[in-house]
Amino acid sequence: MVPNHQLHPLEINPTTAEPFLRLRNHPNIILTPPRYEDVPHEPALMNHEKVHVWLEHPPYPYTLEHAKQWLDTIKPSSDALFAELEAARDQEALILTHQCPVRCIREVKEDGTDVFIGDIGFTRFPNGEFIGTDGVDWENKERNVKENEQRQLGDPEIIWSIGDLLAPSHHGQGIMTDAVGTLMHEWAIPRMGVRHIMVSACIGNEGSVKVFLKNGFKLIRTSEDHHEVKGKRVGLHVLEWRAGDA
Ligand SMILES: CC(C)(COP(=O)(O)OP(=O)(O)OC[C@H]1O[C@@H](n2cnc3c(N)ncnc32)[C@H](O)[C@@H]1OP(=O)(O)O)[C@@H](O)C(=O)NCCC(=O)NCCS
Repeated sequence: MVPNHQLHPLEINPTTAEPFLRLRNHPNIILTPPRYEDVPHEPALMNHEKVHVWLEHPPYPYTLEHAKQWLDTIKPSSDALFAELEAARDQEALILTHQCPVRCIREVKEDGTDVFIGDIGFTRFPNGEFIGTDGVDWENKERNVKENEQRQLGDPEIIWSIGDLLAPSHHGQGIMTDAVGTLMHEWAIPRMGVRHIMVSACIGNEGSVKVFLKNGFKLIRTSEDHHEVKGKRVGLHVLEWRAGDA
């Protein structure tokens, strides 16, 4: 079958036919669609002390059941997106998509097998309390989130966000800096129309802040003692990226 140009710039694994995106500066690291076979590996990663302490949303302890539920969310979404891209095969212009169909970070070994080492994905910015204010606007949080979610794909005013995590065995090798840059420039900007991104990172998560700074984000706010996460008060840094900023 003729390759589907709508998958651009994803490559296709010649053995498994699975599409993937190769990181720009780490050729042995790829992003692939979710696979159910990742489920048994997720709890060890999500419960690791160097990972769970920085994650605001996933439950802790993270169980196999949580991993199954997560896969049941992200796998159908990725499958539906591939179906959309397939349905658009005859359209010359590349279509805009509401997500990237690849998100699981994998290290490719010399024998061609790969190992699941992390996850990265775009969402609409969930912290509505930081939208439309120089401070923190708790009163309009829900309204701001809803307005942002209702914006139509392609609207440059959409505020996107990025969630990411990596296995501690692979920390400090520049992998997430590369993953964020690759995903932004190879897919999110050209294929999702992303023009504005805001992310939050817990105060103290220096690695996460640096990953974004190294990708052109600016630290725009720090909210000490911001909210409660899993029973603890947590402060947040907010970083922003806008298309066209130096
Ligand atoms: C945050 C995280 C994604 C960083 O990924 P990574 O691949 O290790 O980051 P990189 O190797 O690209 O590092 C980027 C910069 O941060 C620095 N850095 C990485 N981890 C660090 C840490 N724990 N403390 C201080 N600096 C750190 C690196 O040295 C590098 O800086 P340099 O270029 O000046 O040397 C990873 O540590 C992680 O998954 N943490 C747990 C989950 C998490 O925090 N997710 C983000 C939630 S907002």
